[in-house]
Amino acid sequence: MNQVIELPELTTIPVYSTHLGRAYCGDSRELLAELPDGSLNLVITSPPFALLRKKEYGNRDQHEYVDWLAEFASLIYHKLTEDGSFVLDLGGAYQRGKPVRSLYNFRILLRFCDEIGFYLAEDFYWFNPSKLPSPIEWVNKRKLRAKDSVNTVWWFSKTEWPKANVSNVLVEYSDRMKKLLKAPDKFYSPAKRPSGHDIGKGFAKDNGGAIPSNLLQIPNSESNGQYLRGCKELGIKRHPARFPAKLPEFFIRFLTDPGDVVLDIFAGSNTTGAVAETEGRKWLAFEQNIEYIAASTFRLVDSNIDQATLKRIYNSILQNDKTEIIHYMAQPSLFKLMDSVES
Ligand SMILES: C[S@@+](CC[C@H](N)C(=O)[O-])C[C@H]1O[C@@H](n2cnc3c(N)ncnc32)[C@H](O)[C@@H]1O
Repeated sequence: MNQVIELPELTTIPVYSTHLGRAYCGDSRELLAELPDGSLNLVITSPPFALLRKKEYGNRDQHEYVDWLAEFASLIYHKLTEDGSFVLDLGGAYQRGKPVRSLYNFRILLRFCDEIGFYLAEDFYWFNPSKLPSPIEWVNKRKLRAKDSVNTVWWFSKTEWPKANVSNVLVEYSDRMKKLLKAPDKFYSPAKRPSGHDIGKGFAKDNGGAIPSNLLQIPNSESNGQYLRGCKELGIKRHPARFPAKLPEFFIRFLTDPGDVVLDIFAGSNTTGAVAETEGRKWLAFEQNIEYIAASTFRLVDSNIDQATLKRIYNSILQNDKTEIIHYMAQPSLFKLMDSVES
């Protein structure tokens, strides 16, 4: 039986609310502190890397960055349910002036497990085939390094047994597997593989898809979504470091049930909140930049909304007029809404 938790109340007033979620403006450390312990099923986020980029990439700065991020992680640890998860997407970096990698993402992994008490449930790798070659100096000019197109995505859990169901994120079968499912007898004779795996007849059972691997191939190349359209229509600068919806979608489906509570502590353009809303999960978004929060409403309002209304919503948020964007939203799928209210 699932433990049902409500969307937690904070003392801070949300900037906007939807059917299932609320977006807050402020420093996430302060907002996290307002949450009751055990009130979140999943925290998924991608932290700002600017802190690291602005400075020298030496060891000292890496340690400072790890210390800074550990403050958030310690708070998150207490706010998660016992079977909750914390998924952290981290891009790789080079040390300044040298073709030598920074170890900060691995330092984070070790610190969070050794000192905060998280478990590494699984290490994931996000391969973004549309990533441009960088750093130009080492890759394009001097041809000393390969293109860096994989982010580490650490799936931390509070206990050894986080909630997870891989059946919710099955991927399409390979062509070979599809053939095998059609005619298992013709295709091969069951035998023991050199690896020791006993491939019996059960292997030819159609489970609706294949188990995904921990290498997630997701291009970050969205060009015509509702968010970008809104930014374009209103002449607003788009958020420079959005992640693709497929990334939070994978972990939200994998690690939560409808009605669970999902938080992104560095919400940016609120990709996570918008996906959670579509998936029938309750959500919270924390972001310190009010302009990013205002523009994030474009993801959540009805796609038929006219430009003047979009502008009114955007401006009313900047003018601190708390907006009930719920009135401008597409009707949620009744089925998903019922699921999240009742479960
Ligand atoms: C890499 S972006 C996240 C982008 C997001 N995943 C998306 O899809 O749009 C990191 C965000 O963290 C925000 N941020 C940085 N420090 C913060 C803090 N202490 N509290 C809240 N937000 C913060 C930045 O303003 C930035 O928008």
